[in-house]
Amino acid sequence: MTRLSQWTLIRALVRNVLFLLEAEIKTHAIQLDIHLSKNQLLVLGDSVEIEQVIFNLIQNALDKLDTEDKSPHSIVLSTARVENQTLVSVVDDGFQIDDSMLDRIFEPFVSTKKDGMGLGLALCERIVNRLNGQIELYNVPVGVKARFTLPAI
Ligand SMILES: Nc1ncnc2c1ncn2[C@@H]1O[C@H](COP(=O)(O)OP(=O)(O)OP(=O)(O)O)[C@@H](O)[C@H]1O
Ligand SMILES: [Mg+2]
Repeated sequence: MTRLSQWTLIRALVRNVLFLLEAEIKTHAIQLDIHLSKNQLLVLGDSVEIEQVIFNLIQNALDKLDTEDKSPHSIVLSTARVENQTLVSVVDDGFQIDDSMLDRIFEPFVSTKKDGMGLGLALCERIVNRLNGQIELYNVPVGVKARFTLPAI
């Protein structure tokens, strides 16, 4: 089934995802900081798919709370306009990703989690690339930054 692409405010998609994750976030002692651009940022695509991307990135940050490694204390979710792109980023302050893993992180069925399918990022990449955007994950001094861009109006 082909879904209709339409222009949607990124802040509306973020809000929907946070609503879905609200209960899970509340069960953790975690600081979630949201920095939404004051500009009305629009993205073109199927809103459910873009929500899935945002959801998976936040879920990956939250998953660290269930591991024995150092847990993240905060997650920072931001949106911004960068040149002609809408940028969404999720930064956590948990443990970093091994270099050997970083190379394979977008491959399907690559996971370090006990119950992970390793499909979240593969799906994110597919959705974002199909919408002519780009997605990347990299280590920051403390934790991991995930970011994706989509063409803006
Ligand atoms: N924020 C992050 N911090 C540390 N490692 C991460 C982060 N996001 C992803 N990873 C690593 O990338 C792997 C692949 O992530 P991906 O979302 O594709 O699969 P998964 O989370 O393991 O399983 P699924 O999403 O299918 O439930 C993870 O298993 C984890 O090792
Ligand atoms: Mg995942």
